[in-house]
Amino acid sequence: MADTTNDKDRLLEHQYDGIQEYDNPLPRWWVWTFWGTIVFSIAYWLNVGGIGTGQGRIADYEQDMAAFRAAHPLPTGPADPAKLLALVSDKHEVEEGQKVFAKNCVACHAADGGGLIGPNLTDAYWLHGGKIEDIHATVTNGVLAKGMPAWGKLLQAKEVDEVVAYVWTLQGTTPAKPKAAEGELVQK
Ligand code: HEC
Repeated sequence: MADTTNDKDRLLEHQYDGIQEYDNPLPRWWVWTFWGTIVFSIAYWLNVGGIGTGQGRIADYEQDMAAFRAAHPLPTGPADPAKLLALVSDKHEVEEGQKVFAKNCVACHAADGGGLIGPNLTDAYWLHGGKIEDIHATVTNGVLAKGMPAWGKLLQAKEVDEVVAYVWTLQGTTPAKPKAAEGELVQK
């Protein structure tokens, strides 16, 4: 039961058809929350595209995506072989490529590139071309029918370039368990 000691004071003066009104205000916190929602709704509507000054959620989303794409470009078009070969002679870039390889490629090509499900990457035989720009194209587009993923959709352009530079350095190395050569001999 509520405290009724002050009931007399809180009965309002007026009477209508014998009915008296009892002053029973809502709790303060409730009232402030109520006003707060009104203030919030005004600010909120002002920011909705098409109604207020805001550009809207779709435009916000597209802007965020465009900013992300600008910062993380996907590989586009054929690679420039001179640029890739320049990476090969940069120790830091090759190390970065090795990290990408360790994370994404070893499951199918083995840690030393000797080949498992995927072909041996250390020999001079290539299924899809042995020039550095061919390797870049294979890595970017994958060979989906044979289980080689299209890394151009999964890695950033820079990572693809680096891993290709690293693969290039595997040429002529001696893996522990080399897979038999596949494809055509490519003379360098
Ligand atoms: C899920 C297994 C798998 C993964 C992971 C994988 N590959 Fe492959 N890769 C293959 C297969 C299978 C082939 C052979 C395709 C064919 O037979 O045409 C291949 C082919 C290649 C070739 C062409 C070889 C040639 O002889 O022309 C290159 C280069 C290559 N992979 C690089 C990479 C790199 C770099 C990565 C990591 C970023 C990677 N692969 C990750 C399965 C894989």
